[in-house]
Amino acid sequence: MQKQLQLQERPNGLPDEHTFSTKEIEIGSPNDNELLVKTLYLSVDPYMRGRMSDAKSYIAPFELNQAISGGSIAEVIESNVSSIPKGTIVSGLLPFQEYVVVKPDQVRTLEMHGAPISAALGALGMPGLTAYFGLDDIGKPKEGETVVISGAAGAVGSIAGQLARLKGARAVGIVGSQEKVDFLVNELGFSAAINYKEDNMEEALKQACPDGIDVYFENVGGEVSDHIWPLLNPLARIPVCGAISAYNLKKGEKDSGPRVQTYLVKTRARMQGFLYGDYADQYEKAYSELSEYVKNKEIVFKETILDGFDRIPEAFNGLFTGKNIGKQLVKISDPS
Ligand SMILES: NC(=O)c1ccc[n+]([C@@H]2O[C@H](COP(=O)([O-])OP(=O)(O)OC[C@H]3O[C@@H](n4cnc5c(N)ncnc54)[C@H](OP(=O)(O)O)[C@@H]3O)[C@@H](O)[C@H]2O)c1
Repeated sequence: MQKQLQLQERPNGLPDEHTFSTKEIEIGSPNDNELLVKTLYLSVDPYMRGRMSDAKSYIAPFELNQAISGGSIAEVIESNVSSIPKGTIVSGLLPFQEYVVVKPDQVRTLEMHGAPISAALGALGMPGLTAYFGLDDIGKPKEGETVVISGAAGAVGSIAGQLARLKGARAVGIVGSQEKVDFLVNELGFSAAINYKEDNMEEALKQACPDGIDVYFENVGGEVSDHIWPLLNPLARIPVCGAISAYNLKKGEKDSGPRVQTYLVKTRARMQGFLYGDYADQYEKAYSELSEYVKNKEIVFKETILDGFDRIPEAFNGLFTGKNIGKQLVKISDPS
């Protein structure tokens, strides 16, 4: 028998002790053309909060009393697929359980180029791709421009800021603690960082962006972003990657704030939402560039790892209270 994490109740606000339940289920065994994989790491991601609700979105809601699923790294421990032998490390969007029987097309064999396998859920996985495409296709930072990133110490933001720096732009991060400010400036090479929980945002942003803002990489929405709009430069670009501040609004609560239209008209700025999956035909190019940056230490990445299956809910909720620096993962087991 093994553990599986299920959605027990749709949360109203931040998930609580009623949201998830852990069930004991059979491990199962692989048929022809199937693999049995052992979960090593699970990724908790803000978008999963949307799947816990039944509101219309770009991805189907999780079903009640069924497994939560998400990014996983796993080891093949039994194989009935000749091209994927036992011992292979794979990743995929898999149910949150300790072992999974999968078809070969549900997983991808990892090539890490020397990076740890966990990076396939962070800098060299979905968050890295998201930072890459949001910046490359929409942000388009140029040398000397100012790129502000919210949620800047997280999985996506920390990579987006470093990619902006590599393009010769000034990266300015917005984060929720002094520890994260220090991390961005001292370890990631951001030009400046602001603590939105402590600093006077208006003053701090003016000081950090004396020439205005050319690109705003939007991860959080809400009050933090309301301070950005007056500083936008003509023809600024705003890749809207996420709006985590609104993900736990309770039923009936509205995400309100200063309206953005007049700022967009005055500056002719372009604000565009995007999903990393829109760029599936370009993943290989992005993977190879990101891998090269990581290999040459031009991009550094950090992970916050909680140990043990039972800590998945804690890891998930920590995303909304800023517990993580870099990518938040849960370690489930060691490779054999
Ligand atoms: N478009 C896409 O394809 C795509 C793909 C992946 C992720 N995303 C989005 O990208 C954003 C970042 O995702 P991630 O995986 O990199 O998460 P993350 O940044 O690693 O973790 C979330 C961080 O958000 C910050 N935060 C939480 N609540 C906040 C609030 N009310 N106001 C301001 N900051 C808040 C916290 O840091 P602080 O301590 O700094 O508050 C927290 O550590 C999310 O909005 C996510 O939905 C979009």
